[in-house]
Parts: sequence; C-alpha cells; structure tokens
Amino acid sequence: MSGFFNVVKKIGKKSNALYLHLIFSRIGMPEHQKIKNVVVIGAGNLATHLALALHRKGINVIQVLNRSREAGERLARRVSAGFNNDLGGADFGADLYILAVSDSAIEEVARNLKLKDQLLVHTSGSVGMASLSGASSNLGVFYPLQTFSKDRRINFSNIPVCIEANRSENEEKLLQLARLISKKAVLINSEQRKVLHMTAVFAGNFSSFMYTIAEDLLKKHGVPFGLLKPLIQQTAATAKHDDVFSRQTGPAVRGDTKIMDEHLEMLARHGAYMEIYDLISKSIIKHKSRND
Ligand SMILES: NC(=O)c1ccc[n+]([C@@H]2O[C@H](COP(=O)([O-])OP(=O)(O)OC[C@H]3O[C@@H](n4cnc5c(N)ncnc54)[C@H](OP(=O)(O)O)[C@@H]3O)[C@@H](O)[C@H]2O)c1
Repeated sequence: MSGFFNVVKKIGKKSNALYLHLIFSRIGMPEHQKIKNVVVIGAGNLATHLALALHRKGINVIQVLNRSREAGERLARRVSAGFNNDLGGADFGADLYILAVSDSAIEEVARNLKLKDQLLVHTSGSVGMASLSGASSNLGVFYPLQTFSKDRRINFSNIPVCIEANRSENEEKLLQLARLISKKAVLINSEQRKVLHMTAVFAGNFSSFMYTIAEDLLKKHGVPFGLLKPLIQQTAATAKHDDVFSRQTGPAVRGDTKIMDEHLEMLARHGAYMEIYDLISKSIIKHKSRND
C-alpha cells in the first residue's frame, strides 16, 4: 500500500481528477489479470454499459468497432479507445474481442472480423456459442443477465455474468474478467443460457407488462397507479426466497371462484386482459393442485 501512496505523492501537484480516477480504477485490477486489452464490437445498449464497466476497472478498451460512425465514436471517446467503422479493421493486439451486436448479426459480423486464435465472445442470452465457430479457435460467451438501456444508469457489480467457453483456460480468463466487474460470475452452457433467457421473459418482461395492464386499467378509472407501488415492491421481494410459489397470494391460489368470476366480468370489455387473467388464474390453480 505504501507504493500506492508514493505514486500519489509523485504525481503531487499534477494530480487531478483524471490521474486519481486512473489510479483508483486500477486498484480493482489484480496483478495477474489475464485479459487486459479488449476490442468492443458494437456501440449499442450492452456494448456501452459493458465497455464503461471494464474501462472503470482499468481494462484497456483499445478499440471500438461499429457499423455506424456516430454511436461508435461517442463510445470510443467515453472509454478513450480508437474507433473504426470498418468491421474488418480490428486491431489484432487485444486479449479479448467482445461482440455486442444484435443477435441476428452475430454470425456474419464474427466471420468478417477475420480473427484466427484471438479469444472471441458474444454477449447474447439466446444465441449458442456454436454461432461463433469458424470465426476463431478460441470462443466463448459473456452474457450479463440484466436489461440494459444506454440512458439508464446501471451498477454492474450486482449483475450475474454467465460465462461459457470452448476451453477451460478460456473459461478461467472470462470468469476472472467477469469477477472484476461483478460479484456473481457463473459457468452456464448454451442450452442452460437459452432456458435462462426464456425465463427472464417470464420474470422480467411479463411482470413488467402486468404492471402496464394495471396502470392502463387504473388510468381508465381515474385511480393513481402509484397506489400499487408498495404492493409491487413487496411482491418483487418474494423472489429473494426460494420456493416463490409458497408465498403466492390472491383469489386463484385461494380457489375463490366468486371473486375470479367478478373480475372476469369487469374485464369483459378488455378481451385480451380477460384472457390473460383467465389463463394465469387457471395456471395458478393447476400449479397448486400439482404441489398439494
Ligand atoms: N440490451 C440488453 O438488455 C441486453 C442484455 C443482455 C445481452 N444483450 C445482448 O447484447 C447484444 C447487443 O444487444 P443491444 O441491446 O446492445 O443491441 P442494440 O442496442 O440494438 O445495438 C445493436 C448493435 O449491433 C450493431 N448491429 C446491428 N446489426 C448489425 C449488422 N447487421 N452489422 C453490424 N452491426 C450491426 C448496431 O450497430 P449500429 O450502431 O450501426 O446500428 C449496434 O452497435 C445482443 O446479442 C443482445 O442479445 C443485450
């Protein structure tokens, strides 16, 4: 630690926010860090958050490659990287190539990178690792399980990063990198990752749409959606426990057909919502009878 304070002393008067940022960000990076330099391909939602998280931990993003110049240059500036909008113009001096482009473009862009042995990963939850085969002899997946949007702040340290690789030494390198930015790095194969991604639709996307239905119906009756927020928070907190269903409440799990019929009647003018209510209620009843 005294070495650290000597460095701080040395930069003395010259010290400014940038120097301190560099020193503090590098404290998080172990001496034996295997992946130090990365190229990020893509400049969308995930590429932006991931490049920034790595940069903050002292990983060198040496280059951003992106099809469109504006987004690519903006990200490159934020992580002090070079930029190229020719996807065949990768800097071959990196330890890792992170392909964070749309799922449908992964295979084609990977091939066009013209890598040989360099470690190449994609970041998708639903695309198999095999989609990269042929693009390099060292492959993997680096999938952060969260929903990312460029303009929403994110704390990467709480996001599980799911790792897969074609060789154990690549697994180790990727796990080490993932642990630098997240408290939770796990090995997950392509099949498991696809299931995980599908269940994220239930747990995340569908739950969110349930809030939308509630908001829409309340608005139609002039009731503020905010009144439901404590209930929503309490419900989300049940996911902290295992066996979530044991904490299921509501008319379906109680078998209260009178209330369910009343609700269905109220929803008669909202055909799609009525179908969703009916389907989920029946599913809860079936699930309960299987578990009893
Ligand atoms: N966003 C999330 O919540 C999230 C979470 C976990 C994993 N992921 C994964 O991360 C990857 C990127 O997703 P994203 O949400 O960041 O996407 P995004 O915001 O829509 O950005 C897509 C990126 O891919 C590039 N791209 C699209 N089609 C291309 C093509 N045909 N050729 C070359 N580049 C192309 C775009 O370049 P331009 O700028 O030129 O359009 C852009 O840089 C996907 O594999 C996704 O499954 C996303």
